[in-house]
This record gives sequence, C-alpha cells and structure tokens, in this order.
Amino acid sequence: MAIISTAGLARTFATKSGPVEAVRGVDLTVGAGEILGFLGPNGAGKTTTLRMLTTLLPPTGGAATVAGCDLLRDPAGVRARIGYVAQSGGVDPQETVRAELVLQGRLYHLSKDEAAARAEELAADLGLTELLGRSTAALSGGQRRRLDIALGLVHRPAVLFLDEPTTGLDPASRADLWKLVRRLRAEHGTTVFLTTHYLDEADALADRIVVVDKGVVVAEGTPAALKERYAGSPDATLQDAFLALTGRGPAPVDTTPVAV
Ligand SMILES: Nc1ncnc2c1ncn2[C@@H]1O[C@H](COP(=O)(O)OP(=O)(O)O)[C@@H](O)[C@H]1O
Ligand SMILES: [Mg+2]
Repeated sequence: MAIISTAGLARTFATKSGPVEAVRGVDLTVGAGEILGFLGPNGAGKTTTLRMLTTLLPPTGGAATVAGCDLLRDPAGVRARIGYVAQSGGVDPQETVRAELVLQGRLYHLSKDEAAARAEELAADLGLTELLGRSTAALSGGQRRRLDIALGLVHRPAVLFLDEPTTGLDPASRADLWKLVRRLRAEHGTTVFLTTHYLDEADALADRIVVVDKGVVVAEGTPAALKERYAGSPDATLQDAFLALTGRGPAPVDTTPVAV
C-alpha cells in the first residue's frame, strides 16, 4: 500500500533573474514501512520536494497524498502524521536536551507529564539518556543528529522525512545513524523518506531508490535492480551503475553530481 504518492509535483521559484524550476514534475510512490532513498546531486530538487511533501512549501503544480491525507486539501492532517528532520537542525543552543524534547512534546499538545515521559522514552530509544541534562551546544555532530531525529519522532509519526541526515558526520556516527533508521522501521514500522547524495548510503539503507536530477525522476528501483540494469550485475556498486549510466570517470561520491 502506498503511503506517499505524488503526481506531477512541481515547484517553480520566482527570482530576480527569472523563474527557477526547482522541481519539474515528480511522480513517485512510497510503500508503507519502506525506506526510500531519494538520491540526487546538489541542486537536483531533493530538499524542495521534501519541503513540499512536509507542507512547508506550497507546490506550484501537481498533487500528492501523504499518510492518507491530501497534501493540498488537508495539510494539517499531513503534518500530524509525519516527522521532518531538516538538513540542518534548529535546536536552541541555550537549552538542554531534555528541555528541547519536552518543548517539542508540548508543541504537539502533550501534557507536561506526558511530554516529560516521552522525553525519557525517546532519550532511552535513541541513546540520549546520559545527555538529557547537557546543553545542546555541547553535543557532538552525531549526538546532535540523534537529538534532531528524536525531536522529529515525538508525536510517533507514520512517516519520517530525513534530509541528508549524515552529511558532515564521521564514519562511526554515520554507521550509528544507519542502524537507528533500520531499527525505527523494524520496531515501529515507520516509513522513512531519506534524501542523500551518498551513493553508498542509499545502497546500504534503502529498500528502493528514486534518483532525481534537474527536478525530475531519472531512475528508480531497488539498489540491486539499478546495479543490474545500469552496471550489468547486482554485485556491482551503485557507483558503477551510475558511472555506466553517465559514462563519466570516477570521482569522490560526496562531491560529484550524479548526472543521469
Ligand atoms: N527559495 C528558493 N528560491 C530560488 N531558488 C531556489 C530556492 N530553493 C531552492 N532553489 C533552487 O532550486 C534548485 C533545487 O534546490 P534544492 O531542492 O535545495 O536541491 P537539493 O536539495 O537536491 O540540493 C536549486 O537550483 C536551488 O538553487
Ligand atoms: Mg538539499
């Protein structure tokens, strides 16, 4: 069953130098409980798509259903059922981890007691218990990312949107985050819509990958299917698949646009 489906979803920005077609008509579906890797180079339209699907930005074209609610007619319904972790989190450096978690619970209409209990529960779940009393300014990059995710989970969303959750993290924190995403899905059945520009991350985490470039979907399938199709073998790396597809020479995956 599809928990997200979009049809011709589009967003054009009016700028001084003319219209920028950031997203030019995206059609995709995501199954309930799926981990979807939304992959594409910088500027492909990943964040813009995410901001539309999370109701933060009105589309200029197309339609979408998210968690059973129509994006345009029932944005409040969508908001109640999703969590969103932005590309760079917005926690208050003056506050403690506990205070941020409780505040978020209160924003979702939990009582003081419920919010306090939920903060403890999430901290235990995300390995933040020892850090509850610490100021958010004192957290490491990986700890901070776990807090961002905990904040996105306060209201037990059916769908969690993560925008480049591991950009800037060291390898150990990246591995921790991958484990966390897998566990979320396994234990809570959470659907995870994850953007990344790391091919290895999409390969390791995603059940299915949707590749966007220049505001449109250019490839789609399981990691194995994409490798088979574009590199001739399911044992190839995704990097191989995209090199075969684009005919470009190898380069560091985190800096090179995947032009498909
Ligand atoms: N608010 C905005 N105004 C004008 N152009 C924008 C705005 N937001 C994004 N863009 C442009 O839209 C394109 C897609 O951006 P974005 O969705 O952030 O890509 P990604 O997240 O894949 O790196 C880029 O060309 C970007 O410069
Ligand atoms: Mg982005």
